[in-house]
Amino acid sequence: MGQMMKGKTAIVTGASRGIGKALACSAAGLGINLAIAARQYEPLKAAADDISAKYGVKVLPVAADVTKLEDLQNLVKKTREEFGRIDILINNAGVSSQYPFQQQPIEDFEKLVYTNYLGYVRMIRLVIEDMIKNRSGAVINMVSGSTLCDPIPRNFLVYSSLKVGLRAFSKGLFWELRDYGIKVTSILPGVTDTDLTGKLSDITADASRLMSTEAIENAVKFALTVPANVCPLEISVINQQTPWTAPVIPFKQQHPGK
Ligand SMILES: NC(=O)c1ccc[n+]([C@@H]2O[C@H](COP(=O)([O-])OP(=O)(O)OC[C@H]3O[C@@H](n4cnc5c(N)ncnc54)[C@H](OP(=O)(O)O)[C@@H]3O)[C@@H](O)[C@H]2O)c1
Repeated sequence: MGQMMKGKTAIVTGASRGIGKALACSAAGLGINLAIAARQYEPLKAAADDISAKYGVKVLPVAADVTKLEDLQNLVKKTREEFGRIDILINNAGVSSQYPFQQQPIEDFEKLVYTNYLGYVRMIRLVIEDMIKNRSGAVINMVSGSTLCDPIPRNFLVYSSLKVGLRAFSKGLFWELRDYGIKVTSILPGVTDTDLTGKLSDITADASRLMSTEAIENAVKFALTVPANVCPLEISVINQQTPWTAPVIPFKQQHPGK
């Protein structure tokens, strides 16, 4: 199945580190050429060099801030110029802001909306005509396991409610685009050990309790390699044991073994 992906082109946003870099690696492992994006060019270029050396695919680093429409347009233009087509979009760039609502800096709202919601919808709009023309394509949106909670977790209200909106949008988009052969998949990761969550390793002595990106990489590989007439609409990858952390969720969760 992976063979079918060889030589295709994917854009991965937020791919200089964390989940995005891990997903770029798993796509590269399937032989997919990549355009990767993040705001800071140096770490992005280092990630591109690293991935192309390891997997032997072409990796184009494009500095882009997903909150800026002109940066997204430039990312799509550069990808078309370099590869001639866009088959896969992995929408992943995201930021967090964890506060009790009444203490949350008011300027964080705009940053969250533009990065975690509008950045995703705009990117899809910019690539969708290529996919419709090809009568095939895959869009993968990095949502969040927090959307499975109702009510959504405390101290995460703006972040999580935008992810709920993104999840709803993704599902609707699948129905709207499926007749064009385009797949739309939401990934719902649990708390994963990346810069976004802070240093989880500081709050547990037992590193084996932390969820790494590995299962998320496998979920995306699965989404990209299922038979052509199947679409995994949503994949939840929730951690079994990572302890909830203050201030993320301020209540105690006992270790299952205790
Ligand atoms: N980690 C978790 O526990 C977890 C759980 C559920 C969902 N998620 C979601 O997974 C995605 C990735 O999270 P992560 O944990 O891997 O975060 P991370 O380690 O902080 O990495 C974020 C990536 O996005 C880029 N980025 C941030 N803002 C950007 C912007 N405005 N424009 C372009 N690139 C931007 C960063 O590079 P620059 O700073 O250079 O731009 C970096 O490459 C996010 O959408 C997040 O909401 C994470």
